Amino acid sequence: MQLISVLYKLKGMYKFGKVARLRGKVFVNKFGEIRVGKNLSIVGHPWAVQITSTKGANLTFGDNVYVNAGVGIAANTKIVIGDNVKIGPRTSIFDSNYHRVDSADKSELSKPITIGNNVWIGADCTILPGVSIGDNSVIAAKSTVNKNVPNNVLVGGSPAKIIRELEIEDGWVRE
Ligand SMILES: CC(C)(COP(=O)(O)OP(=O)(O)OC[C@H]1O[C@@H](n2cnc3c(N)ncnc32)[C@H](O)[C@@H]1OP(=O)(O)O)[C@@H](O)C(=O)NCCC(=O)NCCS
Repeated sequence: MQLISVLYKLKGMYKFGKVARLRGKVFVNKFGEIRVGKNLSIVGHPWAVQITSTKGANLTFGDNVYVNAGVGIAANTKIVIGDNVKIGPRTSIFDSNYHRVDSADKSELSKPITIGNNVWIGADCTILPGVSIGDNSVIAAKSTVNKNVPNNVLVGGSPAKIIRELEIEDGWVRE
């Protein structure tokens, strides 16, 4: 029973290196591509995690990515998550708005999201379509990120603003 459940969760995921560590409820909707690096860890309790890649979309997880409970990640075009990225509980990373604001809204609904290496995204954050987050940066809890974030900064708030520069030694890895 447990094996069937794990296989169901991993159904269709590309596996590179070690198998992902999935706990609790992890729903994977794979219609596009999903690439997984080494040591992906997803915690689906007490809140379920939903990972989606729609038809023609690409979702990539680097090595040593940690996804906490209640997170939603949906690629409708492209989401790239770097190595050693930590994603806090109930955070949303959706690369599409899905809906138009009004009839004058002709904007692209889906825009790629890139999250660099060593990024820590706190709890209850929303990463909006088209955003790039630079290496080593930290997104404070309850932030809404609607603009690109440079490398090595702490940002916070809604919309997120730079709070301060971070001190990052060469070769440092976020744990
Ligand atoms: C950002 C954080 C790590 C604190 O970092 P810090 O360097 O110690 O920052 P400080 O507490 O010194 O605050 C620095 C400034 O950022 C502001 N700030 C801190 N957290 C913030 C947040 N979540 N949203 C908006 N502003 C925030 C502070 O008000 C302060 O502003 P001020 O200088 O105008 O007073 C912490 O507040 C945080 O958000 N942690 C995430 C915790 C979490 O989500 N855990 C889930 C498990 S992954």
